[in-house]
Amino acid sequence: MQRALEEPHCTISVGSPTLVELLTDCDSFRKEEDSSSVARSDDPAHSIIDVEALHVKPVRFVLAFSNLEYNVTFRRWFDFSRPRSSDTVKTLLDDVSGEACDGNILAVLGASGAGKSTLIDALAGRVAKESLKGSVTLNGENVLESQLLKVISAYVMQDDLLFPMLTVKETLMFASEFRLPRSFPKSKKMERVQALIDQLGLRNAADTVIGDEGHRGVSGGERRRVSIGIDIIHDPIVLFLDEPTSGLDSSNAFMVVQVLKRIAQSGSIVVMSIHQPSTRIIDLLDRLIILSRGKNVFSGSPASLPNFFSNLGHTIPEKENITEFALDVVRKLEGSTEGTRELVEFNEKWQQSNLGLSQSARPTPHGLSLKEAIIESVSRGKLVSGSSSGATYLTSMETVSSYTNPSLFETFILAKRYMRNWIRMPELLGTRIAIVMVTAFLLATVYWKLDNTPRGAQERLTFFAFVVPTTFYLCLDNVPVFIQERYIFLRETTRNAYRTSSYVISHSLVSLPQLIAPSLVFSTITFWTVGLRGGLEGFVFYCLIIYASFWSGSSVVTFISGLVPHIMLSYMVTIAYVAYCLLLSGFYVVRDRIPSYWIWFHYISPIKYPYEAVLINEFDDPSRCFVKGVQVFEGTLLGGVSDMKKVELLETLSRSLSTRITQSTCLRTGSDLLSQQGITQLSKWDCLWITLASGLFFRILFYFALLFGSKNKRT
Ligand SMILES: Nc1ncnc2c1ncn2[C@@H]1O[C@H](COP(=O)(O)OP(=O)(O)OP(=O)(O)O)[C@@H](O)[C@H]1O
Ligand SMILES: [Mg+2]
Repeated sequence: MQRALEEPHCTISVGSPTLVELLTDCDSFRKEEDSSSVARSDDPAHSIIDVEALHVKPVRFVLAFSNLEYNVTFRRWFDFSRPRSSDTVKTLLDDVSGEACDGNILAVLGASGAGKSTLIDALAGRVAKESLKGSVTLNGENVLESQLLKVISAYVMQDDLLFPMLTVKETLMFASEFRLPRSFPKSKKMERVQALIDQLGLRNAADTVIGDEGHRGVSGGERRRVSIGIDIIHDPIVLFLDEPTSGLDSSNAFMVVQVLKRIAQSGSIVVMSIHQPSTRIIDLLDRLIILSRGKNVFSGSPASLPNFFSNLGHTIPEKENITEFALDVVRKLEGSTEGTRELVEFNEKWQQSNLGLSQSARPTPHGLSLKEAIIESVSRGKLVSGSSSGATYLTSMETVSSYTNPSLFETFILAKRYMRNWIRMPELLGTRIAIVMVTAFLLATVYWKLDNTPRGAQERLTFFAFVVPTTFYLCLDNVPVFIQERYIFLRETTRNAYRTSSYVISHSLVSLPQLIAPSLVFSTITFWTVGLRGGLEGFVFYCLIIYASFWSGSSVVTFISGLVPHIMLSYMVTIAYVAYCLLLSGFYVVRDRIPSYWIWFHYISPIKYPYEAVLINEFDDPSRCFVKGVQVFEGTLLGGVSDMKKVELLETLSRSLSTRITQSTCLRTGSDLLSQQGITQLSKWDCLWITLASGLFFRILFYFALLFGSKNKRT
């Protein structure tokens, strides 16, 4: 067999340096010279610079993985006829080994379903430890065990999850606020963002909004580069990317890989999966791993790929894209009866034969331990951490801080980002206020100037029974808000950009002012037109309780959208829940008539309290009369008799009861009405506080739903 992998496993492949690179290197070389005590030429202009030496950079980091194996078990949940032992085990990764060094791009190739994303996930620590066999080490240390990998690495997902209304610069600026420490001055953060914009080739798009289906924004390639940018804002040492080029045209894909190459050359390890790279892209890759059904069928440099396949008896024709050819061969073998077994074995032998060869040239990562290598990298400006404390910050792996900023600062930045997004979409607030106004006008016209007759009292009750659940239903627009943001939240929290608690607090804080306008609009339109009681004081309380009701409703909806991450399901659950709460809130069935086994639901119904509060505000006045004299016959069989007869009936009633009941005698006051509704236990202020507290309670539940329901790891 011909010698195959003549290069060491990790090399810095160097193309001819560009003038800029040479100048940069010369510059840094001079600086190093200046600071060293080594004797040098008196005339610096005539220093002899060894161009080759400049470009042979030492290897500082080696990410090695060996014998990775990952199985998943299918459970047949509804097939009770089969025993548990019939669960099928599927092997997603089968004995995969390899390594990657800083300065290099390791590309994982393979057909769809080969296990590329699974391998990237396994290396990035996104697979539960207990499910993954084998080892993943960085400079010989098991990084999956510690929090360290989260701090020094970044994972770029395949989807571009960005806020559509922020510009490229703002998006990167917010990322810098989250990922760079607060001690880092704003000007430095801006400098870093500007450098990144240049590095990503986004200068022309810096002030363009990201955009979405409804708003014109940056191009697909630019969006992808912004996605990469937000994850590399802190200049990570290890960068994982799942198909960063998919969905892009060839020139955009090439630009993205060029950017990745620059990142690698700045001292990072880049590991990515890629579908059918073009020849230009292959030239930028340093190492390839080809997977077939979870098995490693090739591992080596792109240059050694033709050699490997010709040894196997498949000579790659000239002008053919080598990876396309290789993948075609793998696909054919996968379809054959023998499968890829021969190829896997051949690859193993190939690796064995090269192991000895490359052992001598194998990178001992500059003799540095992981800690030392990180500290050295930080001192060179990697892992932007603000100050010299950045190095000490990483010196102890045990005490490595998971979050860059304090909770309060995170909350502030999150709230700022949310408000900016919100302000850029005035149509959202406009639509909400418009719906509230239409609802209020409709109610105002239907319940115009209610009087104090028995019918008026009844209509007041139905008015309130409609108003309170409506405030809850008007909050349904919160369902998509969180669900759309959910993936951004997941992406950011898995990278420890901020704490879940900061997110929940900022989310709650920004919703509070948002609810003021709808509450005021609704209360002002309905209070005077419907003819509610209490004057200014009654109006103020009515505003407060409507506001509290909106707050409680928005909290319920937010909690359910955090619990049920599917939009349609979330709507269904919310509507059903509000309907049950309404049924048991005391309007349709008074408390005494609710079955004892459902009484608990009556008390936990968040609709009960605002409903009782508005009724107390309206009816809690013993001097206010709703049934006077002959009005007592209204709505009964006697309601149809003449007024004369009614007066006579009243007199007969007075005689038989020995009480004087005249036309002006009040037979039902507001307080009677409240007792009849079973509203006797709490004051209106108690109800207001409980409504506000229930909003808070649902926000706490929202926090737990996010904390326990948003695990972003494979099991
Ligand atoms: N939880 C799971 N249970 C069962 N099979 C799974 C699970 N997760 C992934 N798979 C399977 O594992 C295989 C590898 O999946 P993976 O996503 O890594 O493929 P891929 O190479 O990234 O494909 P693509 O190029 O389409 O993204 C696929 O066949 C997939 O169906
Ligand atoms: Mg994939």
